[in-house]
Amino acid sequence: MKAVILAGGEGTRLRPLTCNMPKCMVPILNRPLLEHVIDHLREHAIRDIILAVCFMPHHIRSYLGDGKRFGVRLTYSMESSPLGTAGAVKQVEAHLDETFFVLNGDVFTDLDLTQMMRYHRERGAKATIALTPVEDPSLYGLVETEATGRVERFIEKPSPEAITTNMINAGTYIVEPEVLSHIPPGSRFTFERELFPLLLERGDPVYAYPAEAYWMDIGTPEKYQKLHHDLLSGGVAKGFAGERTGQGIWVEEGCDIHPQAELEGPVVIGRDCVIESGVRVRGPSVIGEGCRIGKDSVIEQAILWPKARLGQGVVLRKCVLAEGVSIGDQSRITEGCVLGGNAVVGCDQSLTPGTNILPGEELPSSSKRR
Ligand code: GTP
Repeated sequence: MKAVILAGGEGTRLRPLTCNMPKCMVPILNRPLLEHVIDHLREHAIRDIILAVCFMPHHIRSYLGDGKRFGVRLTYSMESSPLGTAGAVKQVEAHLDETFFVLNGDVFTDLDLTQMMRYHRERGAKATIALTPVEDPSLYGLVETEATGRVERFIEKPSPEAITTNMINAGTYIVEPEVLSHIPPGSRFTFERELFPLLLERGDPVYAYPAEAYWMDIGTPEKYQKLHHDLLSGGVAKGFAGERTGQGIWVEEGCDIHPQAELEGPVVIGRDCVIESGVRVRGPSVIGEGCRIGKDSVIEQAILWPKARLGQGVVLRKCVLAEGVSIGDQSRITEGCVLGGNAVVGCDQSLTPGTNILPGEELPSSSKRR
């Protein structure tokens, strides 16, 4: 069976993490999100996968290649400018000759795809949309259904009175190939706003598949952190890479962790990290491959991408550091701060909560050091 993964968006809301990396390649528990999505497809015997790419495609291709390493067959469809979710699929119409899946590449879910396909077939749907419940539906496009599951209407960003359901489009679809004939070739077109409403107008059977599965899109830094929190706190069945060395502690090979460092799970540590004496790491936290954590530093509920360098006595709390970030001695990076790749923060700095730092930006040491 085939699937198209939509992986071409710019991910503007996730900047600065996506300034130099496509959103679907950001690491989740030290592996790119797309690798998790591909694992999920393979677990449901979906091995023929088309990646619809546009923004920074070389990152995706150089990591995933032809997919053999991941037990699937990958092909790539390149858009010179974004064609929208449905336009991207139209571009590969010639390769889609049977019922297929379409997945947003920025979603982590354990949705039962096998069950969803059964549901689609039993109802003879032309398209089936997975739905997921959300706490605040006002920010999303709602999908209203009949008791049979057939979609009645779509409501975009509803006013409070118009909220009749908390079920939203989860960004996973099953589509019959003939539906693609309604998409104009070579132009920007989306499933959500154009194709699905058009199918309803035509009276074609569009069904919704209400799922109780775990679901999180990583559209913003807050959601990116929430996904890690959920995965590490056991909300989702998940195996972690590395050896389990203690209560909720997973460490990959080649690490040098000082016996006087304190780790309090859930914590995942990638390979070849050095953690010096007196360091305290409190979960849920992730430390990427090749990080160096200096003496007496404290890491609490933080996510570090590979090759971060922390001096001595650094405090990180509820923040995200992209690849190669360097933090000087005694600096404090706290709640909601997001530092882009290779950003440098000097010594004795204290960032205001919620500060974003662009890739490569340098913040000098505070004046008491200079
Ligand atoms: P924002 O700029 O933060 O809104 O992110 P985004 O551009 O990724 O858009 P959005 O979150 O709505 O995209 C949902 C999914 O569809 C993501 O996996 C995107 O990569 C993908 N996507 C969105 N637009 C396109 C497109 O034009 N072409 C392709 N191939 N994929 C797209």
